[in-house]
Amino acid sequence: MANPISFSPSLLSSDFAAFGQDAKMSAEAGAELLHFDVMDGHFVPNITFGAGVVSALRPHSNALFDIHLMIENPDRYVADFARAGADIITVHAEACTHLQRVLSMIRQSGAKAGVALNPHTPLCILENVLGDIDLILIMTVNPGFGGQSFIPQSIPKVRAAREMLDGAQSKAWLEVDGGVNSTTIGSIANAGADMFVAGSALFGHPQGFEFALSELRSLAGSAR
Ligand code: DX5
Ligand code: ZN
Repeated sequence: MANPISFSPSLLSSDFAAFGQDAKMSAEAGAELLHFDVMDGHFVPNITFGAGVVSALRPHSNALFDIHLMIENPDRYVADFARAGADIITVHAEACTHLQRVLSMIRQSGAKAGVALNPHTPLCILENVLGDIDLILIMTVNPGFGGQSFIPQSIPKVRAAREMLDGAQSKAWLEVDGGVNSTTIGSIANAGADMFVAGSALFGHPQGFEFALSELRSLAGSAR
């Protein structure tokens, strides 16, 4: 059973000089989460920001802080992000030699534990750690940049992830990240995702963030 629909706007597409304002605006528009794309220039080609930005923004928003670590050796930074105010810490399966250990480290830190999968990584890598997971993040673009096009072959993968979670009676969130917009969100919601990251579709919408969020929310709701 999918969870209620929720949204995690990605700060990657917001104004880097106005993070505080944009975090506040996002929460006031009703977004349940705020998505932080942490990139190290190694796991992905781009570099963004670290735990300092997360802790600086904590007083500006009551949304759940959803930290997407696109970094190598993420275990080295779990404690820092937890201390900074992370509610969910998601690591890439591809970046963890000892994934189960990292997931339990995240839970011990007090945060919810998420695992992200790149487009080429098969779902079955999660089969034996489902009990340690609070969130599966299906990447629907290759990570590193905002504003890329949704990879359509991801739809069957989202559907299979829904079946996997339901089969295990897991209440974990099923989050989708990359190319989520008014054209793609219907089929993603229909496939069983319940948490949606969106960057350019929200922060770059000509009619504004709040309009874009409510449009995406109603498209997702009616496609379920
Ligand atoms: C990509 C990031 C995404 C990105 C999504 O590596 O993980 O969170 O901000 O941006 P859009 O929604 O523009 O595809
Ligand atoms: Zn992300």
